[in-house]
Amino acid sequence: MLEYLDWGKRNRMRQIIQSDGRVLMLAVDHGYFMGPTTGMEVPAKSVVPLLPYVDALMLSPGILRTQIDANLSKIAWVLRASGCNSILDEDIDNESLILTALEAIKLNASAIAVSIYVGSEHQHQTLKNLAEAIADASQYNLPVLGVTAVGKKLKDKREKRYLALASRIAAEFGADMVKTYYCEGFEEVVAKTPVPIVVAGGPKLDTYKDVLELTYQSIQCGAAGVDMGRNIWQSDYPVAIIQGVRAIIHQNYSVKEALQLVESLQTEENKRVPLFVETQEDLEASKIH
Ligand code: 5RP
Repeated sequence: MLEYLDWGKRNRMRQIIQSDGRVLMLAVDHGYFMGPTTGMEVPAKSVVPLLPYVDALMLSPGILRTQIDANLSKIAWVLRASGCNSILDEDIDNESLILTALEAIKLNASAIAVSIYVGSEHQHQTLKNLAEAIADASQYNLPVLGVTAVGKKLKDKREKRYLALASRIAAEFGADMVKTYYCEGFEEVVAKTPVPIVVAGGPKLDTYKDVLELTYQSIQCGAAGVDMGRNIWQSDYPVAIIQGVRAIIHQNYSVKEALQLVESLQTEENKRVPLFVETQEDLEASKIH
């Protein structure tokens, strides 16, 4: 797998996608446009208990520098490289690049992540961001994760025709991996995208079964894994649900088996203790994409 890549890039990709061809990426980059998102107000506190179950962590450069112990090894860093907007704008698609490939290499990143908002007002700008990031990153054999983001206005466009279009464009530009949403007929999105796909979790789902189904179906349809955030760290038992997700990805658990595992891990010790009062308004704000 990935033999078509140069050695340096293949080696970095291998730090992310494990030898079984699968990956559990934990997404904690939400603050780059949502600020101190509920459940991720103090990233170090939320992230550290989850690290033993993570292959790769997707995060912003400032959070890596300030919240993650530089002595940690065995985890791949995928650094958010596009941004420059916030939830206070009418939409979140007006992005520029926020990180050069050289800065990412200096932070020992295994890849950078750039969002594209296909079909949005700033489609052109965000596609240019991806093209520029790929050209920059290729100087260092640094892989690029193309993120098919939807923002506020295109929130409901999570269907296979749209996602296949956006994912394919990212791959055509030279993205080494694509992160997109799961949808009905997802195997078609995977088949039409000639690079590994990771699936975003999206806003928090109602039950653990829903999260495990999403993971299971994604893998069955050919995804390499997930790049999941809120459904893990906003849940009541993050350390439990992440292990269920991991068991599906790396141990081919069924949903039923994974659910049993999650239930067995719902102990007092694994319960998430909110650091701040969590208001409905804050939770709703975290669901905008
Ligand atoms: C924002 C992102 C997030 O990393 C992405 O949304 C994944 O997290 P979640 O599972 O919470 O949706 O790329 O554009």
